[in-house]
Parts: sequence; structure tokens; C-alpha cells
Amino acid sequence: MKFVATNFVLLSMSLAAFAAVPLYGQCGGNGFTGETTCVSGATCSFQNEWYSQCVPGGAVTSSVPVTSISSSSTTRSTTPTVSTSAGPAPTGTVPLNGLIGYGAGTTGGGNATPQTVTSCAALAAAVALEVPAVIYISGSLSGCDIIDIEADKTIIGVGSNSGLTNGSGFRIRRTGNVIIRNLKFHVSPEKKDLLSLDNATRVWVDHCEFSSIGMVGNKDTYDGLLDISHASDFVTVSWCKFSDHWKGSLIGHSDNNAAEDTGKLHVTYHHNSWVNVNSRLPSVRFGTVHVFNSVYNDIPTSAINSRMGAQLLVENNVFNNVNLAVVTDLDSDLEGYAIERGNVFSGTTTTRITQVGSLSPPYSYSLDSTANLASIVANGAGVGKISV
Ligand SMILES: *[C@@H]1O[C@H](CO)[C@@H](O)[C@H](O)[C@H]1NC(C)=O
Ligand SMILES: *[C@@H]1O[C@H](CO)[C@@H](O)[C@H](O)[C@H]1NC(C)=O
Repeated sequence: MKFVATNFVLLSMSLAAFAAVPLYGQCGGNGFTGETTCVSGATCSFQNEWYSQCVPGGAVTSSVPVTSISSSSTTRSTTPTVSTSAGPAPTGTVPLNGLIGYGAGTTGGGNATPQTVTSCAALAAAVALEVPAVIYISGSLSGCDIIDIEADKTIIGVGSNSGLTNGSGFRIRRTGNVIIRNLKFHVSPEKKDLLSLDNATRVWVDHCEFSSIGMVGNKDTYDGLLDISHASDFVTVSWCKFSDHWKGSLIGHSDNNAAEDTGKLHVTYHHNSWVNVNSRLPSVRFGTVHVFNSVYNDIPTSAINSRMGAQLLVENNVFNNVNLAVVTDLDSDLEGYAIERGNVFSGTTTTRITQVGSLSPPYSYSLDSTANLASIVANGAGVGKISV
């Protein structure tokens, strides 16, 4: 896949020999031998060691990591720049099927013999056993209330309409090594989260969908879509869709929880779609969080919120009509830290970073270009996109 993509880039380059690199085209990276000058109005910006890209503007550093970003408070109001080019649905360089980031090493139920459940009761019984298990949920299970998941479980939805709905949710508490994939979560019990990680270690949430009834009624009728608290650690949330809700994903539940949470709450979010959610996408206290290659649309309050000394790295995301896409001085006693680089801001979108962070993730990863990211995520995120 990578080989084909590389050839395609080389072919396009030879066709456009010596022309300046267009907006969002590649302009540098290890082994790159093509044109490095961007079209007028764009600057070559480092994305990772393999990829530099022409981004709008003239003041961005070229081909080196961004190491300091001054405090900024900007409002960008431009026409959307999200790619809508015709042709086959693009796939990125990051595979649809694979665990990367802080959650790496999560094995769930491993090779336990798979079993299929079709009722809340059967599901609750299967996930409560203290043995490794691989559990397929077939169908949309309604009114399950909150089901506690014990250690060493892989829970997978069958097809493209399996999951938990209408007063149902999962909690992973004081345990870990859980994989949750290809499930639709819709409407938790009142006051509860759809998926709650409470002192949970090693969790991978992949190709899931989270939603409720939208930003209507009281914002506290339901709690979060996916909340992570009480010293939870080593979590990856990938290729999921979050939509139509007040409170998205809260990491660290209270300003007063430093004793438990400091040094914990390592979470990677990548290739997620966030649409029409009011705030907390995520909101992070104390934690260490890497958000990359995600697409945000129509977020009225705030998206990525760094609080209480949290360290965030926010890179190669696309934000369209997002109030406070990245913010570090909201809602808490102490401000957080953030690095933002390679992101695309369009529509009416603002950022406010008062403290530049220092997060450099310890794992290796590659970044998709933002040029086709909207299509890559639309194409790859959510249920029914992987064969499991
Ligand atoms: C939702 O759950 C309630 C109570 O559990 C039940 O009475 C109702 O029929 C359910 N609605 C649907 C659409 O499944
Ligand atoms: C987390 O769970 C472990 C194992 O049950 C327990 O020993 C520890 O005290 C818990 N920590 C917190 C912060 O709740």
C-alpha cells in the first residue's frame, strides 16, 4: 500500500516537474527528492520525519519540528479547505486495522474461542467472568443499564448495527486489558457515561460510534460519551465517531484528583470523527494525550481542552467551525499545555494556547496528510468498516 502510494506521488511529481508544490502537497521528508518550494501564500511545514507539507501562510517553520509556538489567540474565518476531490475514496498511510499509541500492548481476550451474545443478560454474564474471553455482540441491545467489564476481554459488534442502546453502557473499573471494537453506543442511562474507564489500564476502543439525542434538553441528563478517570492509563481510541451530544470525552474528572491522576491518563486519539458535540473532545486534566489525524465539525463551545498541567500534542487534525479548537486556559484552577502543529483550521475556528507543551510520544507512528483526511476518516471511521 505504501509502495503504491509512493509511486503515485513520484508519478504526480514527474508530471508536474519543477512546478511549485501546491497547497497540502509534500515538500520534504526523509528520502524525498522532489520540489521543496511551495506555491505563493503557502509554507513548507514539518509534519513528521517522513513528511513535510505546504500549508497556508508564510510564517511557519520549514522542515524542522515545531519546538516553540507563542501564545496565540486567533480567529480564522476562511472558506473551508477540506478536500472534496472526486475519485476513489482515499485511504491513508495509517492502516485501518492496527493498534498504535499509548494503548499498544492491549491483547483483550487473545485467542479465546469466540462466543456470540444476543441479549443484555448473556452479555453481562460473559464479560463478568474472570477468564479471557472474545465476545461478539449480535444486534442492538436495549436497556442493558451499565455493564461492568472484567479483565482480558475482547468485545466486538457483528456487522454494522450491533451495540448498546437506550439506557445502556459499559464500565471498565479497577481492571484492564480490554478491547472494544465495531460497536454502536447510543444513549446511556441517565447521569451515566456510555463508556466509562475508571482506574482502567490498557484499553483499546476502535471503530465504535458514540451518540445520544443531540444538544437538546439539559446538558447533564446524560454524562459523557467516553470518560476516562481515576488513574486510568494506556488507552488508544481510534477510528471512532462521536456525535450529537453535550459532553464528549472527559479525561480526569476533577481538579482535586492530582494525587491519583498525576503521571497517569496516557491516551492516544487518532482518526476519530467529532461532529456536533458541545465540548470535551477531549477535555484533559493532569493527563498526557496525543490527538492526531482527527476531523472536527461544528463544535460550538470547545474541542481539545488542556487543564491542570495536562500535556497535549495535537497534530494533523482538521477543524471546521470549531469554537476553541485547542485551548489551555478554560474551566480549571490551573492551565494546561499544548503543542499544535500541522492542523488545518477552517470556517469559523479559534484556538487559544497560553502554555506551549513538551509532549513527544515515546512510540513511533506515522501521520496521514491533512489533504485527504476528511475523506479518509469519513471512509474508515465507525462501525462496518473492518472485518472482525
Ligand atoms: C427503551 O428502554 C425502555 C426501558 O428499558 C423500554 O421500555 C423501551 O421500550 C425501550 N425503547 C426502545 C426503542 O427499545
Ligand atoms: C485501582 O485499582 C487497583 C486494583 O484494584 C487498586 O489497587 C488501586 O488502589 C486503584 N487505584 C485507584 C486510584 O482507584
